[in-house]
Amino acid sequence: MSTALPWFRNGFPLYLAPMAGVSDKIFRQLCKEYGADVLTTEFISAEGIFRRNERTREYLDFDEIERPIGVQLFGGNAEHMAEAARQVVDWVRPDFVDLNFGCPVNKVVCKNGGSALLKDCPTLARVATAVVRTIAPMPVTAKIRIGWDADSINAARVARILAEAGISAITVHGRTRAQGYSGAANWNVIGEVAAAVSIPVIGNGDLSNAAAVAKHRRETGIAGAMIGRAAMSRPWIFHQTKQHLASGEMVDPPNLRERWNLILRHCELVAREWGAEEPAIRSMRARLMAYSRSMPDAKRLREKFSHVSTLAEVKAIAEQNQQRSTGFTESTEWSKMESLKSC
Ligand SMILES: Cc1cc2nc3c(=O)[nH]c(=O)nc-3n(C[C@H](O)[C@H](O)[C@H](O)COP(=O)(O)O)c2cc1C
Repeated sequence: MSTALPWFRNGFPLYLAPMAGVSDKIFRQLCKEYGADVLTTEFISAEGIFRRNERTREYLDFDEIERPIGVQLFGGNAEHMAEAARQVVDWVRPDFVDLNFGCPVNKVVCKNGGSALLKDCPTLARVATAVVRTIAPMPVTAKIRIGWDADSINAARVARILAEAGISAITVHGRTRAQGYSGAANWNVIGEVAAAVSIPVIGNGDLSNAAAVAKHRRETGIAGAMIGRAAMSRPWIFHQTKQHLASGEMVDPPNLRERWNLILRHCELVAREWGAEEPAIRSMRARLMAYSRSMPDAKRLREKFSHVSTLAEVKAIAEQNQQRSTGFTESTEWSKMESLKSC
């Protein structure tokens, strides 16, 4: 495997997936504390960079402790993407720039961005080449899906084109654009991509526990793994996965009190960042619902979280939940993890 990215040289890096509306600075840093090795910003429009609007600035913001971190860009115009990448490098000097060739959302695809480029390989090659040349020696990586739809799975071909263009690593989300997030990720195709190129391939899709990462690593030859939705409810998945890959052991997840401490801290950090508690906590509702999936009495919690507006309300829910859940032990959780192992 040849690579310009130092974090592949002595290990198997775990990436936090870029997730719009989720992988902001606060969440990235929490995941880093739990062992995520490499972080990426949410996707950012190349056109937004030109307009230099306030929101785009916020997306680009990261702290030094987040390194190595990449800024993810999307767009379908090679010159604009290259110029946007140059400006990003000048402003914030990330460790790498990641090109989004996987986004399935209509408003991105209809402007020839994201996964639209999977069915327009000449433009994909032009975008990748232009960005690589413009910001060299800054490494450029790419994130793709396995194809546009089931009849046009072309990830191995796309990966060869990207490697030829000078891309330093490729993340493959094992679904087609047509699938959106439905069905299962196709890890056979991810394995084909890993075999097709000599640059690192990062596997992504449905990695919900440490055992799944170990299994797919063994079976596909990926050089790293990217975890998205599972980290939203269990950010400690990074720590558990690292321990499992290193020793074969499955370490206990945090106990209930520790989970609530994490949730409350997340809320406090967001409230402080916003400087206005109520809108901040309201903005956390979806995030709290994601956390509830890892908690006892999840259904009741979801209901309650859907109405919260203050830190005091979240704290009261935490108290109640801990009192009601005396039967929730790490061994309960452990047996759940064991049953997931076979996935
Ligand atoms: C809420 C949400 C937002 C996402 N935003 C992005 C994004 O900005 N850029 C990107 O490349 N992928 C994005 N994705 C896709 C994820 O990075 C990842 O490829 C996908 O969720 C599959 O991984 P998982 O099964 O571990 O969640 C997003 C996914 C979700 C659920």
